[in-house]
Amino acid sequence: DLRQEAVARASAIRQSQRPKKEDPEPKLRVVLGAAGGIGQPLSLLLKACPLVDELSLFDVVNTPGVTADLSHISSIAKITGYLPADDGMKKALTGADVVVIPAGIPRKPGMTRDDLFKINAGIVRDLVQGIAENCPKAFILVISNPVNSTVPIAAEVMKEAGKFDPKRLFGVTTLDVVRAETFVQDITGEKDPSKTVIPVIGGHSGETIVPLFSLAKPKVNIPADKLAPLIKRVQFGGDEVVEAKGGAGSATLSMAYAGFRFAEKIIKAMKGEKGIVEPTYVYLPGVTGGDAIAKETGVDYFSVPVELGPSGAEKANNILSELDDNEKKLLEACTKGLKGNIEKGVDFVHNPP
Ligand code: NAI
Repeated sequence: DLRQEAVARASAIRQSQRPKKEDPEPKLRVVLGAAGGIGQPLSLLLKACPLVDELSLFDVVNTPGVTADLSHISSIAKITGYLPADDGMKKALTGADVVVIPAGIPRKPGMTRDDLFKINAGIVRDLVQGIAENCPKAFILVISNPVNSTVPIAAEVMKEAGKFDPKRLFGVTTLDVVRAETFVQDITGEKDPSKTVIPVIGGHSGETIVPLFSLAKPKVNIPADKLAPLIKRVQFGGDEVVEAKGGAGSATLSMAYAGFRFAEKIIKAMKGEKGIVEPTYVYLPGVTGGDAIAKETGVDYFSVPVELGPSGAEKANNILSELDDNEKKLLEACTKGLKGNIEKGVDFVHNPP
């Protein structure tokens, strides 16, 4: 009888631990380029995140070590890691619903993000090809630079495979938002900089980055002489890190934070949390509300605050009419630069060098 009682108790415990019916199935999140400067701390944050059930890491080097190391952390996420050998990419991607891509070379002093194109374009193309083949419905979060071009590359690869869903492709521009929040603190003196919401629109490099301090919430008063340097600092903030690292790479830790912040919002939105809006670089004609923005800016890829939901980018918020005159001028410079970056990405897929 005692034995029966123990069995019943064990079964009751098991029942209570089983996910409730309405709980979503465990889902797999993947980092491609997981052994890199961004990939490692990003994988750490994902491994520690209670919303992540399963995590898989892929890189061309060092994933066994990174995976073994992270596997000792006593968090929920089950972790596996793969190298290209033995169909590693396929194994890493099968079953994925979110794939974050920080694979590719970073900048050295004196380099622009566009200088990375030659190498990173091919890396992103091949990885997205892997996504098209193994987990075509996954949300794709592109960190690899130049984001202005690598996102169009990802879109074209998915299109060619007949699998493109514009609502599921995101260029990660969150670091520009994070920098805007942080740098404006010098002026506002706000204790917690993340409490000031500043939309950043456009692209992700130099003048294509357009921070909209006039739309900050709560409102911020920026003295006229401080505004131009502040905008410039957000646009070229990445250079500060590249120079400080003196040849050892670009932003990795702040980028991992930003990439995680965006990925976490995506995961929360997938799980049904409402009201999540984040700037992200999307294919406008494929997102509700995006067409009007594409017409107005003359570009198909652009970062705007996007409402996120279970199907991905559910609505692109058109805030262009709210820009002040200075921001309108910045927008002009932005779209001029962006056009060429986008064409270069699209062309790369159709006319490979
Ligand atoms: P890193 O060189 O430290 O790491 C890149 C990783 O990608 C390496 O581990 C490398 O082995 C891996 N990799 C290369 N080819 C691969 C392939 N075919 N498949 C899988 N993995 C591959 O570079 P870091 O600093 O982590 O930067 C990564 C990228 O992120 C760069 O392109 C950089 O410009 C970009 N970045 C983007 C930012 C953004 O705001 N979106 C901010 C900062 C950097």
